[in-house]
Amino acid sequence: MAKPKKRYVCQACGTVTSRWQGQCADCGDWNTLVEDASGVVTAFSKKHNLQGGGSRIEMVGLNADIALPERMTTGIAEFDRALGGGIVPGSATLIGGDPGIGKSTLLLQVAANVAKAGRQAVYVSGEEAADQVRLRALRLGLGEAPVKLAAATSVRDILTTLGEGEPPALLVIDSIQTMHSDMIEGAPGTVSQVRASAHELVRFAKERGSAVVLVGHVTKDGSIAGPRVLEHMVDTVLGFEGERSHQYRILRAAKNRFGGTDEIGVFAMEGKGLVEVGNPSSLFLTERGEEMSGTSVFPALEGTRPVLVEIQALTVRLASGATPRRSAVGWDSQRLAMLLAVLEARCGISFASTEVYLNVAGGYRLGDPAADLAVAAALVSALSERAVPAGTVVFGEVALSGELRSVAHAGLRLKEAGKLGFSNAWAPAATAKAGGMAVEGFDRLRALTDHILGREG
Ligand code: TYD
Ligand code: MG
Repeated sequence: MAKPKKRYVCQACGTVTSRWQGQCADCGDWNTLVEDASGVVTAFSKKHNLQGGGSRIEMVGLNADIALPERMTTGIAEFDRALGGGIVPGSATLIGGDPGIGKSTLLLQVAANVAKAGRQAVYVSGEEAADQVRLRALRLGLGEAPVKLAAATSVRDILTTLGEGEPPALLVIDSIQTMHSDMIEGAPGTVSQVRASAHELVRFAKERGSAVVLVGHVTKDGSIAGPRVLEHMVDTVLGFEGERSHQYRILRAAKNRFGGTDEIGVFAMEGKGLVEVGNPSSLFLTERGEEMSGTSVFPALEGTRPVLVEIQALTVRLASGATPRRSAVGWDSQRLAMLLAVLEARCGISFASTEVYLNVAGGYRLGDPAADLAVAAALVSALSERAVPAGTVVFGEVALSGELRSVAHAGLRLKEAGKLGFSNAWAPAATAKAGGMAVEGFDRLRALTDHILGREG
């Protein structure tokens, strides 16, 4: 019998090759090719096609009575919110984030809260010694919480230990890259080890009803290190984001089989660990005293949650000749270039010999096209040194034609602004009033820039 040919499958994009390579020729990812059983024909398959010889599976209707698993609330409202209302028992959650962002801190706090509420919470650290974790718990004021703590990396040891007693309500594995399964070869952290370890842990969760939370390291490009299949294996994928130099952290769901992915949890890293931020706007608005040119306030939305952020622009006139710089922090630089072009072509405001710096305060990142108008207002205000009046928020999408498009959830945005002491909004003409805010409507960008420049009438 001929020797079956080996084949290798890229774990990132699914490309099949006959030879192992360090880099996938198709998607360019490194170390993603893994040997796969080639399609060897078994003796059984020669006798049958697949339409016979199997056992019967049960078919049920869609409207069958099922007991929805009751979610376990952790008492950390921002964490529960990002998960869609608490942890689902028997579910597997993957939480990724840059090193030092606070994953271990957050999960230790979650485990402590679950344990304090009388449920069994197990925290397995593969990265830190037990004493290190204990020291952190002490600093966080959680020393008394009845969390079961272990420093271990062998998945077999962990599951053997946990299999003996009552399964825990919550099992935290920090991190999946340090875990080792003796079912297959390879050092911890390799693609196959990460996959095998996660597979066993997820299976434990499903079989025993424990909620398993896996911490995953993030590579430079922001994806969770290891095979992307990890994201398919778990029910929920959370990202813990934020700039290390800034206080705030956002917990955001990228995938959630049990809820939406549009809710976020906001935390601030403080001396005593992560503190929930119930009112995120207070974080992202700098202290606003007197009117300043070059700034505007944009009512952003995170999921269904409004967050007011300050947009700052600085323009510096150049002598002649030099190519002016454009720099955007927290905002897409392509979009900045587009807005500058619209301002020039449709409103007659030229930035051609001006350097432009744009910054979204607080380290916040904006992707919402509704911020266009607020960015434009900040730019024109910076250039003209005329301030956007205090108490005014600005939102609206700018089309290439210079027309303003109305945006989603204008009512929510207005209400949040009203709650935080704003009284007026500059918005697309069709925007309805809400939240006790006055709305000044503009149909095109030109009308707004004329308004800022005092050129009306
Ligand atoms: P950590 O949870 O270890 O991050 P990760 O597990 O994501 O790598 O967080 C470590 C950082 O958080 C560290 O730089 C110090 C900071 N920190 C505080 O500012 N306050 C605290 O109370 C704690 C425990 C950590
Ligand atoms: Mg950690």
